[in-house]
Amino acid sequence: VTGRFPWGDCTVVGAAAITGKAADLPGQPSASLSALGSTVLTAYVGVSNELKVSKDHTVVVTGAAGAVGSAAVQYAKNVIGAKRVVGIAGGPDKCAWVKSLGADDCIDYKAPDFEARLQAALPDGADKAYDNVGGEVLDALFTVINPHGVIGVCGLISGYNGQPQAFKNMINIITKRFEIHGFTLFDHVPEFGAAAQKIAGFIKDGKVNTTHAETVVHAPVDKIPETWALLFAGKSRGKLIKALTG
Ligand SMILES: NC(=O)c1ccc[n+]([C@@H]2O[C@H](COP(=O)([O-])OP(=O)(O)OC[C@H]3O[C@@H](n4cnc5c(N)ncnc54)[C@H](OP(=O)(O)O)[C@@H]3O)[C@@H](O)[C@H]2O)c1
Repeated sequence: VTGRFPWGDCTVVGAAAITGKAADLPGQPSASLSALGSTVLTAYVGVSNELKVSKDHTVVVTGAAGAVGSAAVQYAKNVIGAKRVVGIAGGPDKCAWVKSLGADDCIDYKAPDFEARLQAALPDGADKAYDNVGGEVLDALFTVINPHGVIGVCGLISGYNGQPQAFKNMINIITKRFEIHGFTLFDHVPEFGAAAQKIAGFIKDGKVNTTHAETVVHAPVDKIPETWALLFAGKSRGKLIKALTG
């Protein structure tokens, strides 16, 4: 089962603390925290329920090499079959990986001509945009989103350390009459159980790649601080999971 339980080798909780049934993914006992965890569920509900992506849509996903973005790219392209999916990520290696997940193209936001490259990759514009980044990357989305398109803002990671969020392309809000709205995973908690079962099916069918979904550290309970420190040392990839050993 899944839920918010206290750390411990053994614990007794009431039924109300249990939020769901653990994912049925053979050989991946920690998948409920990674490939089927809240990060990935956020990507799923963002693409399907918030942006309502369909086969007819061209979609752009920012932070596309991150945990949320890489899942959003795969749902939009490999599960829903969106017409064209373009990711935005930092550097050629990450862009190549995003394309290996199924994206039709991926643009490097660190390139000096990023905005021009993004526009070239989207000759017919984008109907839907899934933004994890904010700032200059979101500003560039204003230039490619189509009239009456939708930008769903999931995260603003470029500004979490206090960087100013400056925009120079805001005139497009008026000229294109597009919609921009934020969303959080907390709006969708009741849908998580059913969504996790669906995603487990997509993984089994090979539509969603979970290769870099988690880093599992096996250690006793008194080593929790050392394990969490890996998060801030850039030494984990995907969801960092501690598996308690005796
Ligand atoms: N709304 C919600 O309920 C909800 C839930 C979960 C997560 N989120 C948000 O979703 C976003 C992604 O989370 P995550 O778990 O996927 O994080 P993650 O795995 O750490 O990925 C974050 C990605 O953001 C990119 N990034 C970081 N700084 C950037 C910058 N200045 N400009 C452009 N790109 C930048 C990085 O791209 P490169 O590595 O390619 O440079 C990285 O791949 C975060 O903003 C997070 O707060 C929101």
